[in-house]
Amino acid sequence: MTVSMSMLERLRDVVRGRLSEARFAHTLGVERAVVRLGRVLLPDAVEELRVAALLHDITKEYSEQEHMALLRKHSIELSEQDRRMPALLHSCTAPLVIERDFPEVATPAVLSAVACHTAGKADMSVFDKILYISDYIEDGRTYSACVQVRTLLFEALEQADVSPQEALNAAVLRALDNTIISLVNRSSIVSEQAILARNALLVENFRG
Ligand SMILES: [Fe+2]
Ligand SMILES: [Fe+2]
Repeated sequence: MTVSMSMLERLRDVVRGRLSEARFAHTLGVERAVVRLGRVLLPDAVEELRVAALLHDITKEYSEQEHMALLRKHSIELSEQDRRMPALLHSCTAPLVIERDFPEVATPAVLSAVACHTAGKADMSVFDKILYISDYIEDGRTYSACVQVRTLLFEALEQADVSPQEALNAAVLRALDNTIISLVNRSSIVSEQAILARNALLVENFRG
């Protein structure tokens, strides 16, 4: 997909109008992070990654009613488990809104990465992983676990004996571990997708 700078600028303007100032600042942080990682890991898809970053939280500020109405309209049934993980709702509705409001940039790669940016999924693509980890480590995140993963990732990318893919996988695995552990510590439900994502990464690492 070719994405011009003016198209990105237009997307930024639309997104700015739909998000709070803080969420928009986070979105721009994710955009900066995908550019930094994309240049090393997926140089041909940097613009497409920017699109995914700009749109990933497009429905994050919807009310539960708005999420539910949109899902109903698309005949998407949520499981009992999903309903108990409201933080995941925006990952389900964002792809629907992207297809409806931004069809010109709704590529399979963008839709997939946005759909799995919160919980992950089995066998994530490099594109999926870049958005997932950028959401976790963007420079506005000050939580110590995020800072730690950010430092580890950018240090690993400098190391000659670690491939960029290995550095990315290690960071995604660490972020999934942190998220799962924190959910367990709070006695919260852990999304099946997060477990599948983690297992798939471990298998990938064994393969080397
Ligand atoms: Fe999100
Ligand atoms: Fe986000």
